[in-house]
Amino acid sequence: MKTIETPILVLTGAGISRESGVPTFRGADGLWKNYRAEELATPEAFARRPELVWEWYDWRRQAIAKCNPNAAHEVIVAIEDATGPGEFLLATQNVDGLHELAGSRNVRRLHGSIWHLRCVRCDHEELNRTVPLAPLPPPCPQCGSFLRPGVVWFGEGLDRVVLDAAFTAARTARTVLVIGTSSLVYPAAALPEIALESGAHVVEVNPEATPLSPYVAERLEGPAAELLPAWWREHAPTD
Ligand code: OAD
Ligand code: ZN
Repeated sequence: MKTIETPILVLTGAGISRESGVPTFRGADGLWKNYRAEELATPEAFARRPELVWEWYDWRRQAIAKCNPNAAHEVIVAIEDATGPGEFLLATQNVDGLHELAGSRNVRRLHGSIWHLRCVRCDHEELNRTVPLAPLPPPCPQCGSFLRPGVVWFGEGLDRVVLDAAFTAARTARTVLVIGTSSLVYPAAALPEIALESGAHVVEVNPEATPLSPYVAERLEGPAAELLPAWWREHAPTD
């Protein structure tokens, strides 16, 4: 039994939700009507073709609405349960809300939430779980302009407060779990790099090698829903 050192930072990407049935962004799942995520998840794409971009998000919302958290999401809750106050942070790039549904509490959503909508013109924001949405784009109830998905697009900045919390956790973490992310998209991909510089023990869970792989202490090479529960059984504190 090897107990892990705290504080713990967990960084997740689309791969953790794969076994829940949520399509990832890159790889075989990543295409939708011959568009790549990078072509749709941008402010320029939305300005040019808001119906097309909304159709894609509506399709993702419909897919995600049918999905439940899997064993990997649940293990992350167990890890949080086993840690004291201030010793755990989950930074996720996922917009699907499955961590919250599983019961994770100290979550920072780096790329926002697909269930939150906000107006492109005024300050209206709402939580909206309706699937499918109609009409598309949805109109703002306050000013009649378009609502947009409450996600971060390529070329947009991340929320300062969210980002600061994640970077502080990366600097202080002793153990970092990097689960189901291609480690290609910054600034999220910088979090494990910063933790490595501070001497943290970094564990990567991913069936494929990533640019981070050569630098990590442990690689769990396979699906997170299988390998993470096994890893936690070995490392969970026994008392
Ligand atoms: P990607 O789709 O880029 O990468 C998913 C990763 O999960 C890949 O490295 C896969 O090898 C891995 N994977 C697949 N199945 C897995 C499994 N069962 N268990 C564990 N890992 C598995 O997704 P992200 O890295 O999350 O951003 O992408 C980062 C960001 O780029 C997203 O948040 C989104 C995207 O475009 C924005 O929209 C701003
Ligand atoms: Zn409005």
